[in-house]
Amino acid sequence: MDVNRPCRVLFVCLGNICRSPLAEGLFRSHLREHGLEEYFEADSCGTSGYHSGELPDPRTRRNAEAHELVLDHRARQLRADDFHHFDHILVMDDSNLQDVLAVKPDNSVARIRKMREHDHLHPGADVPDPWYGGEQGFEDVYHILHRSTRNLLESLRSSIEAG
Ligand code: 4NP
Repeated sequence: MDVNRPCRVLFVCLGNICRSPLAEGLFRSHLREHGLEEYFEADSCGTSGYHSGELPDPRTRRNAEAHELVLDHRARQLRADDFHHFDHILVMDDSNLQDVLAVKPDNSVARIRKMREHDHLHPGADVPDPWYGGEQGFEDVYHILHRSTRNLLESLRSSIEAG
């Protein structure tokens, strides 16, 4: 691929300790697998600052490590300049979407979409919040985000290659 600068992708959830750091980690792992790291930049954040500075939730890390994925992201809150820096913002659910749109500056350049618009099994559904549930919820979210981030990368790659 021949691009002038990396395509910038931001994953957003509420706390930035369960879903969005996993989405970021999975997207990075797809980039590594396809040798595309130099063409993309990935980050994640929360609409809230409840957990700023924290590593992902231990249940998310444990589940990811069972799938050989190590997550070392530190939580941070969404900032106004994210809307100017990132080309794509992927939110996990309708509540995140409302919160993001509520603070979006008028001159935002980011394209804002729900993560599961890229999930061919349940297009546009919410990525369920596993925070209040059991281990199976974390496993379900892993598989939802694995296929959604893989399809997102395929879609972004195709549009970049098409110019
Ligand atoms: P996340 O999950 O938005 O996927 O990171 C949550 C994490 C923390 C809380 C809620 C959801 N909380 O209420 O602290």
